[in-house]
Amino acid sequence: MKNTASFIKMKTQSEKIAMLTAYDYPSAKLAEESGVDVILVGDSLGMVVLGYDSTVKVTVEDMIHHGKAVRRGAKDTFIVVDMPFGSYHGSLDRSLQQAMRIFQETGAEALKLEGADEVLDVIRLLTRTGIPVVGHLGLTPQTAGVLGGYKVQGKTAHAAQKLLEDAKACEAAGACMLVLECIPYQLAREVTAALSIPVIGIGAGAETDGQVLVYHDTLKYGSHHLPKFVRSYAETGEIMKNGLSAYVDEVKSGAFPAEEHRFTMKEEELQQLYG
Ligand code: KIV
Ligand code: NA
Repeated sequence: MKNTASFIKMKTQSEKIAMLTAYDYPSAKLAEESGVDVILVGDSLGMVVLGYDSTVKVTVEDMIHHGKAVRRGAKDTFIVVDMPFGSYHGSLDRSLQQAMRIFQETGAEALKLEGADEVLDVIRLLTRTGIPVVGHLGLTPQTAGVLGGYKVQGKTAHAAQKLLEDAKACEAAGACMLVLECIPYQLAREVTAALSIPVIGIGAGAETDGQVLVYHDTLKYGSHHLPKFVRSYAETGEIMKNGLSAYVDEVKSGAFPAEEHRFTMKEEELQQLYG
């Protein structure tokens, strides 16, 4: 199993880090078998698995439920679990309690928190407590309402400067890794060069230390719209739909089940039964 030191080493050796989300036992199993370096149990599960239109309805219970399933499917892969909206704001005591629950009950290797500013205190506290923290800057979906929607962040010199400072502050607070979402590639390159911790991009260009994508986007599984920064590697949804339609057709036509799917009672038992 890789650990936070392995990822620093990968950064220094320019070996790219492949991160992928997973939300349940089979997706985690496939992710591990595919050789991903880090599995993220993202709160994107609210959208791609639970059908909400944002991540804000996702609860600590949801993250624990899915995190445990992912752990069972990927025993040998470094797992990061998102702290959901509202679970790490307010008092530090409460944030630590929620973090402890998610960390202990899921058995994950790290937790991910969005933002800097007041979140820096939480990153510091969790790290000192022994919980590795992954930061997340740029487009932070939990605060999309305040950002004015899901759009590219850090496009002005002023916003870029603030993001760079936030990134350095996350590292100084103890973050072991940083996710940058939906920012210009030049800014992502700058942040990646400025930090010693690995920087993982999504919609942040090719010059970060690694990439992360959402499982369902990568496999085109589910009918939601794909952002510009995604590349899909398989038409899974289409394959599944074809399989399911074929099943329905065969039930309707009587082609399934066939003889090889049935169980047979011996002739003598049948005679006893019917006399
Ligand atoms: O929830 C999620 O899937 C994420 C990634 C997109 C970084 O936070
Ligand atoms: Na997330």
